[in-house]
Amino acid sequence: MHVRFKTLSAILLAASALGAAAAVAQDYPTQPVTIVVPFAAGGPTDTVTRLVAAAMSDELGQQVVVQNVGGAGGTLGAGQVAAANADGYTLLLHHIGMSTAPALYASLPFDPMTDFAPIGLVTEVPMTVVARKDFEPATLEDLVAYIKENGENITYANAGIGAASQLCGLLIMDALDTKMTEVPYQGTGPAMTDLLGGQIDMMCDQTTNTTSQIQAGEIKAYAVTTPERIAVLPDLPTLAEGGLDNFNLAIWHGLYAPAGTDPAILERLTGALQVALANESVGNSFAELGTYPVPADQATPEALAQTLEGQIALWKELIAAAGVSAQ
Ligand code: MLT
Repeated sequence: MHVRFKTLSAILLAASALGAAAAVAQDYPTQPVTIVVPFAAGGPTDTVTRLVAAAMSDELGQQVVVQNVGGAGGTLGAGQVAAANADGYTLLLHHIGMSTAPALYASLPFDPMTDFAPIGLVTEVPMTVVARKDFEPATLEDLVAYIKENGENITYANAGIGAASQLCGLLIMDALDTKMTEVPYQGTGPAMTDLLGGQIDMMCDQTTNTTSQIQAGEIKAYAVTTPERIAVLPDLPTLAEGGLDNFNLAIWHGLYAPAGTDPAILERLTGALQVALANESVGNSFAELGTYPVPADQATPEALAQTLEGQIALWKELIAAAGVSAQ
């Protein structure tokens, strides 16, 4: 009898805990939601996140604030979200770096596959190879010859090990069989300031951070990293046109919550992400920056999980084959 009573109390307790959790998920969100950007303010990840966060705020009826936690190529901010409460109030918007970091770092403060609950893919952004306005090479052909000749005398800005800008540089250096001097920043926002100021020679960065400066003639642009030219910068050749065969790099982004987040909260967040990405003004802003929001069937946990898993395997192979290591 006593045992039965205990069992019954346990069932009632569990049921009431479940009920409370369901109520919390139903009311979510009751306070502002934070999206951590694992890079400095003013850069490409920050720009994309702020556009999406504003539209998600409207849909969720709560403020969605952006917090920049730059450093260590995005791994600091990602680690912070992995360790955060799984209550739906701390999220992460990160890019391809989630899949390259395991191949580039000997140890990481998080496991991309098990420490996060995917919410959905967000966008895929081409990269551009750019330089300070008065950098000597005039064309992509000149640039290739110049890099081969001047190697480590060239300063190359990036956002740290595992950042998209670093990955692009590693692949270019590998293709040209040379090394440039890498200068790490907390994000390519501050790196762009130094490129504009002429303190640094070159960078490879996403169109979301370079398009307006290229169009205004404030920096020099040599190439895009995608296999095809892009509509927003149609005169820019592809790296493949410059002889870097099969060069293909576009930077996919995803939105994550910490693992263990209530499925009902995740569903709410996926819905809000889909609404944000379908927003006309978000689409127009993305287009001006050389990118586009993913369609709704990609802004799902399943699509992000599948992309992440496939990309971790792919980059492990490609990074090992290129013999590049960041540490
Ligand atoms: C990168 O290089 O990974 C990004 O451009 C960093 C950033 O968003 O600042």
